[in-house]
Amino acid sequence: MSDQSDELAIYIHWPFCKTKCPYCDFNSHENFAIQHDSWKKAYLNEIELNRDLIEGKKIKSIFFGGGTPSLMASDTINSILNKICNLGNFSNDIEITLEANPNSIEREYFKDFKSAGINRVSVGIQSFNNDNLKFLGRSHSSYDALKAIEFAREVFDNYSFDLMYCLPNQMVNEWENELNEAIKYIDYHISCYQLTIEKGTQFFNASRSKEFQMPGEEISIKMYEATYNILKSHGINQYEISNYSKHGYECKHNLAYWKLDNYIGIGPGAHGRYALDKKIYYTINYYDPKKWFEHTDKFQSPIQSRKEITQKQQIIDSLTMGLRLNQGMHESNIPNLTSMSDLIAGGFLIKRNNNYVKSTLKGRLVLNTLIEKLLL
Ligand SMILES: C[S@@+](CC[C@H](N)C(=O)[O-])C[C@H]1O[C@@H](n2cnc3c(N)ncnc32)[C@H](O)[C@@H]1O
Ligand code: SF4
Repeated sequence: MSDQSDELAIYIHWPFCKTKCPYCDFNSHENFAIQHDSWKKAYLNEIELNRDLIEGKKIKSIFFGGGTPSLMASDTINSILNKICNLGNFSNDIEITLEANPNSIEREYFKDFKSAGINRVSVGIQSFNNDNLKFLGRSHSSYDALKAIEFAREVFDNYSFDLMYCLPNQMVNEWENELNEAIKYIDYHISCYQLTIEKGTQFFNASRSKEFQMPGEEISIKMYEATYNILKSHGINQYEISNYSKHGYECKHNLAYWKLDNYIGIGPGAHGRYALDKKIYYTINYYDPKKWFEHTDKFQSPIQSRKEITQKQQIIDSLTMGLRLNQGMHESNIPNLTSMSDLIAGGFLIKRNNNYVKSTLKGRLVLNTLIEKLLL
């Protein structure tokens, strides 16, 4: 865990989307008539309820995630940022990201978000191929995707976009071609996610009833390796399993999670993890937007559970997060050094000169097993 206890990252969850995508199990719900002023007040109330955790802290990053936070009123974003800034101190290089969908983007909205204080957008492109977008149930076209990137480039000094691969019937060379096409738009950062079939989604039922078949493990490994190699050959380096960037453009907010720095979560279902009085706490807000709103609207805490994290859980967390990162983790944080040596000999881990241990490509494919072995 980081001992930077005067630093804080803040996650803000907006739980609404125009339509619900068939693969998505995030806390996102089809947009209904939202009273933006009431929601603004609810967010400001929750920030006020967190006053003690924010006051005097150096704020390193703020991330508006969702859902589709590009559907938020820019006035709400501005008020949230002003409130946080009045309580804490924004670090000079603060990263303030907003997730945006290509279909909710107008150039003017981007300008408004920038004026509201956003300095980085992460655009959910998912694919540049119209057939793939249709399969994924996206309400944007590849033309919208390109426009969104054009606007992001024009308005912001830093942006990222997400692509999804390992789709049913997708061939390795099709993904390679798509990624090679995408290269010209990757100025700073990209996230590439393998499609996963999550319980409770439309895709879960469709895949169970064999409406489509997911690519086998061999293909998914080839696609993962191709992603790593193609991006690396263009100076876009992996820093976490699904995240790649040019040097110095790693997402600060994601790094805060993976390095187990302090963060708080605001909004429905948001999580927090922070040190307080020499203990570490993990919090989860009410998931249901209505329930969260009912609490915050009345200025009551929307935290559904707050637990102290045990020593053992801290070790598991640090292995889980450390081995996801390309930087790896210091061997002094690994409980079972004999297993570590065996896994190095087996090609699952590598030890660097500075005694940092990181997972290899082979190791990343069986990360949960590595963690179990390193704990024993
Ligand atoms: C929380 S979503 C929000 C982004 C934004 N609402 C959008 O859809 O454009 C963040 C990213 O997670 C990825 N994602 C969501 N569900 C996924 C799944 N089942 N498998 C793989 N990636 C997924 C998508 O790439 C998406 O852009
Ligand atoms: S993928 Fe994005 S737009 Fe689609 S439902 Fe999930 S959060 Fe909403």
